Amino acid sequence: MKILISAGPTREKIDIIRFISNRSSGKMGYALAAIAAESDAEVVLVSGPVNLNVSDNVRLIKVESAAEMAKAVYLEAPDADLVIMAAAVADFTPKQVCDHKIKKTSGNLTIDLKPTEDILLNLGKNKPEGQVLVGFAAESENLLANAQDKMQRKNLDWIAANDISKKDRGFASDSNAVTLLSKDGKQIEIAMDSKKNIAKQIIKIISV
Ligand code: CTP
Repeated sequence: MKILISAGPTREKIDIIRFISNRSSGKMGYALAAIAAESDAEVVLVSGPVNLNVSDNVRLIKVESAAEMAKAVYLEAPDADLVIMAAAVADFTPKQVCDHKIKKTSGNLTIDLKPTEDILLNLGKNKPEGQVLVGFAAESENLLANAQDKMQRKNLDWIAANDISKKDRGFASDSNAVTLLSKDGKQIEIAMDSKKNIAKQIIKIISV
């Protein structure tokens, strides 16, 4: 059995020293990888830049940008039995990366952004027979309706809906609370707990 997990933020370069990113700590994805590694499965973790330790029996692939994450995930996904996209992939990236430090000028600075690839959407389009594909939905409003819509649009088997409007859970927090939705209509609440315990429950539920 092979389990592929993505974690952390991505960094989208503006110039040689600046980037656009987000507050993802990577803790949820790393907790999922640690729990998955307690089984006999081969576990691959594709991670954006974070400062976390990884279990010995996890194969770590470090990436920076959404494009690099896409490349690594597309390479590892075809023979994976379970894929969990917990990474907070940037939705936009600068159209051009300046090859020197952008100098301060007196006026405003405008940075043109273009959309990144939606990795999960592409995984859903090319999902091999029998693979279980799981996404996360970070929502600040209409949590379940938006998560449900994402699950259908991206052809997922499960989605973990995360209410990021509350400070005590999700992004950059040590704890989390999620609602797991399945494509066949299950709705399972996982109450507020450490990310380690949330990961344990997610892996248990989706492995049944
Ligand atoms: N995701 C991805 N590639 C992207 C953006 C998101 O693979 N370029 C994945 C995330 O890893 C997550 C899921 O898609 O599992 C949902 O991410 P989220 O940020 O909640 O939603 P978006 O699809 O980006 O939509 P929106 O920002 O409009 O809510």
